[in-house]
Amino acid sequence: MTSKIAPANGKILIAPSILSADLFRLGEDVKRVEKAGADWLHVDIMDGHFVPNLSFGPAIVSSLKGKTKLPLDVHLMVEKPSQFVGPFAAAGADLLTVHIEANDNVSEVLKQIHALGIKAGVSIKPDTEPEVLSGVLDQVDLILVMSVYPGFGGQSFLPKSPERIREVRKLIKSSGRNIWLEVDGGINAQTAPLVLQAGADVLVAGSAIFSAGDPVQALYQIKQAAPHS
Ligand code: DX5
Ligand code: ZN
Repeated sequence: MTSKIAPANGKILIAPSILSADLFRLGEDVKRVEKAGADWLHVDIMDGHFVPNLSFGPAIVSSLKGKTKLPLDVHLMVEKPSQFVGPFAAAGADLLTVHIEANDNVSEVLKQIHALGIKAGVSIKPDTEPEVLSGVLDQVDLILVMSVYPGFGGQSFLPKSPERIREVRKLIKSSGRNIWLEVDGGINAQTAPLVLQAGADVLVAGSAIFSAGDPVQALYQIKQAAPHS
């Protein structure tokens, strides 16, 4: 297995989250955002334990694989990611992100992901101190800062997020490594500039794109907040 995801290179990327897409016409929605210039496709996996909601399994990743050229950025909001890394890698994930708060040995899970030839990310929930990431900085290709409490699309951006993004950006700088800094939750044309100024370079947006009357226009508006994308 290989990953289509290039190392972080200073570009700003937009990753629409299909959690808010219309599943009846998922293919159509994905093609639209792909044409409109989306960079990755964000796929939220929830197990009903780590977060109080359920979403998709590996089958959705297999059904997207080969139908879109967008890299598949899979966000595992699950208690035991070690159980799911194999199935999601086999289904075609290009990047697997696990939570530092998971009930698992995260460092081992990150090794497991890389051993399968794909990129590995780590995520922190809004109340987790960014400092805890220090121990895994040399093992990750991406850090995902949650700017809402994970579990549901359509929530409001937490105002404390830019400060947390700044702290994570400092940690990345101190590591000397090329690590993507992704932000997820409540991102729209108003909040995108705040997180970009704080140092984010990958923006996940679900409801702002897929629940908009015109998803293509909504994506353009978020892109406009990112002058170098
Ligand atoms: C929330 C998910 C997000 C969600 C974002 O737990 O991780 O990826 O889709 O949705 P919006 O952009 O609507 O906040
Ligand atoms: Zn997500």
